[in-house]
Amino acid sequence: GVPVEVDLTPIPEGQSVKIFWRGKPIFIRHRTKAEIAAAEDVKLTDLKDPQADADRVKKDQAQWLVVVGICTHLGCIPLVNEGSYHGWFCPCHGSVYDTSGRIRQGPAPLNLEVPPYNFESPTKIMIG
Ligand code: FES
Repeated sequence: GVPVEVDLTPIPEGQSVKIFWRGKPIFIRHRTKAEIAAAEDVKLTDLKDPQADADRVKKDQAQWLVVVGICTHLGCIPLVNEGSYHGWFCPCHGSVYDTSGRIRQGPAPLNLEVPPYNFESPTKIMIG
C-alpha cells in the first residue's frame, strides 16, 4: 500500500474529513477541548475494549484523532458526530462510539481501529 499524506490545516476544530487509504475510509478528526476531555475522563472499567485515549493519539497531538471508518461489528461506515457519545454512530445495528472512537454501546466488539500514521510536521500526517 502507498502511504497517504494529509495536510491538516484545512480541517477546523470540531470538524473531520474522510479520506481513503488502502481502499479503507479513514476519519481524521480535529477534536475540540470538550471532546478530548470527554475521551480522557472515561474510566477504563467502563469500556468494552479498554484503551486509554492517550494510547489512541500521538503525544502532544491529542486534538487529532485518526481512525479507520469501518464499524467493528459488520463493517458499515459509521456517521461522525452522531450518537449519544458524540463520536460516531453506526446506522446498521446501532453501535455507538465515543470521541476517542471507542465502542460504548451496541453490538460492535472493538474500538475503531487506529491506522499506522506519523506526523511529518505539526500540520501534516503520513498514513501508512
Ligand atoms: Fe455497525 Fe453492525 S455494522 S453496528
